[in-house]
Amino acid sequence: MSAERQGDAFENLLHEERRFPPSEEFAANAVAQPSLYDEAREQGTEFWARQARELLTWEKDFTQTLDWSDAPFAKWFVGGTVNAAYNALDRHVEAGLGDRVAIHFEGEPGDTRTITYAELTREVKQAANAFESLGVRKGDRVAVYLPMIPEAVVTMLACARIGAVHSVVFGGFSADALRSRIDDAEAKLVVTSDGTYRRGKPSALKPAVDGALEKEGHTVTSVVVVRRNNEPVEWTEGRDVWWHDAVAHASEEHTAVAHDAEHPLFILYTSGTTGKPKGILHTTGGYLTQTAFTHKNTFDLRPETDVFWCTADIGWVTGHSYVAYAPLVNGATQLMYEGTPDTPHQGRWWELIEKYKVSILYTAPTAIRTFMKWGRDIPKKYDLSSIRVLGSVGEPINPEAWMWYREVIGGGKAPVVDTWWQTETGAHMIAPMPGVTAAKPGSAQVAVPGIAVDVVDEMGESVPNGSGGYLVIREPWPAMLRGIWGDPQRFKDTYWSRFDAMYFAGDGAKKDDDGDIWLLGRVDDVMNISGHRLSTTEIESALVSHPSVAEAAVVGASDETTGQAVVAFVILRGSAKDDDDIVTTLRNHVGKEIGPIAKPRNILVVPELPKTRSGKIMRRLLKDVAEGREVGDATTLSDPTIMQQIAASLRK
Ligand code: WT7
Repeated sequence: MSAERQGDAFENLLHEERRFPPSEEFAANAVAQPSLYDEAREQGTEFWARQARELLTWEKDFTQTLDWSDAPFAKWFVGGTVNAAYNALDRHVEAGLGDRVAIHFEGEPGDTRTITYAELTREVKQAANAFESLGVRKGDRVAVYLPMIPEAVVTMLACARIGAVHSVVFGGFSADALRSRIDDAEAKLVVTSDGTYRRGKPSALKPAVDGALEKEGHTVTSVVVVRRNNEPVEWTEGRDVWWHDAVAHASEEHTAVAHDAEHPLFILYTSGTTGKPKGILHTTGGYLTQTAFTHKNTFDLRPETDVFWCTADIGWVTGHSYVAYAPLVNGATQLMYEGTPDTPHQGRWWELIEKYKVSILYTAPTAIRTFMKWGRDIPKKYDLSSIRVLGSVGEPINPEAWMWYREVIGGGKAPVVDTWWQTETGAHMIAPMPGVTAAKPGSAQVAVPGIAVDVVDEMGESVPNGSGGYLVIREPWPAMLRGIWGDPQRFKDTYWSRFDAMYFAGDGAKKDDDGDIWLLGRVDDVMNISGHRLSTTEIESALVSHPSVAEAAVVGASDETTGQAVVAFVILRGSAKDDDDIVTTLRNHVGKEIGPIAKPRNILVVPELPKTRSGKIMRRLLKDVAEGREVGDATTLSDPTIMQQIAASLRK
């Protein structure tokens, strides 16, 4: 978004005067009290040392809280050793909580599993043994290509247990996208399933793994396959093994060896401004500390009584931090649901909340807007009185969606917490505390205690209240990414070169008159579609890899439901111009190259693209076209008539 347009959007938000302070009762009993902010301010990094010791069980205590001498490469909790799986599982069983439900699983067809901490611990130990017997060792990489089924969490924790580094690839990514991620991380093992269920029908996953591994030259020696939908699959003898053979028969004894606090926990690929996804690297001690801390405080967690439900897929960072790790480290009970919100009917989520008495719901604005469209009569049919806290994540939440969420889902009383963070930050960074902050609809408002967030101008100077600029983080934080897999230079260039000694998040933001922060969207060529990050360049590369496309430019256009939608402008090569199906062909091509989530909503065939004299595509002008606005200043174009040519071609 241009600075000017962000300014306009902000002016509208400035009229937002509604305030929702916590009720007296909520405030008095809240997990996070105002003193938490004072402690964080007074104690500096030692605040995090205290949290690390309180929230985790360390095998060996650390001797130094933060080593920032090789900035921007941080080391947190130096000298400490810790095992993530032990913290998520064994210690709760040892504390006598083995019978507590860890996961209520509900499959899309309605099948269910109730998994206690004791059972989950047992299955993770078996999976750890199975993976080890397939040759996986500490430090090896394991690609995970699974739907939202308990085995996904089991796999991640089993990797963590043995010190193998998981790289979860979202099931909506294509075989090609999976292969490039397998290659970049040099994965030894892939864990997948025959498939899953989508909108009442079986949907396949294994063929994408077969496709990814078809061409020689990869590093994969085994593929473990979970049987989920019982559909027939191709089988490669010597490489493929069924989960029910390898895991179910493995020993239930497995001792978790503690790893260094900075031992890599996982890699998660995310889109940047170039065509090549970045492997964001997270390590163990700091990541677990901040995810557990935020899960407990932002959501006011009571592990004995709450039922937590984060609706994110494990293919995204939200599913890592707030499904696979924090809820289990905190000993909470959570719901995991495999399917779509409208199968078999549009009340499915509310039916699940009623059935499992979900008390904390964490979801994305795009889902909320979809439910708004379906109408409030649907959730009204269910008993949602168990809900006490509502969370939002993934993109700015517009005040109307925020209000609807609070009123219709939260019964007008559950606090809404809007949480800003990123794959790179690992855990919440900006979020109100539900018992402390007087909430403003549409704003994430305040930095999490212990986190140093600021908004700065072009020169890196902190802006005064009432002004906007770039969102930065001024001090290292425990769950920060430790780098980009295999590319330390790109890590420095992407995040640490725009401003001196500050992390640049890529988002625009403003401070209101109270100093509260309002997020305004990305300032780079990254789009946000339904809370998922996609790069314009990546989709452009996919389009031009098709023989019919001469040139392509992609923009994110605002969309009522998904926040943004992908709109592509393409120049075709000679003969393709007469092909009536070219738009469908190109949409499918993008689906094959990247995945269905990247398919453009619109593909517009144009005679030319607007470029500056130095050859840079002016996406700002294309965005005006895509959003149906009058086209802005086009005087710096190498050929100022191009926008008229484009307009004329689209009228045809
Ligand atoms: C980008 C990070 C964090 C997990 C999901 C997305 C946008 C995220 C918010 C929010 C405004 C938000 C930002 C950020 N974003 N949460 N509460 N308000 N914007 O993770 O794929 O790494 O994307 O999502 O633009 O940079 P991600």
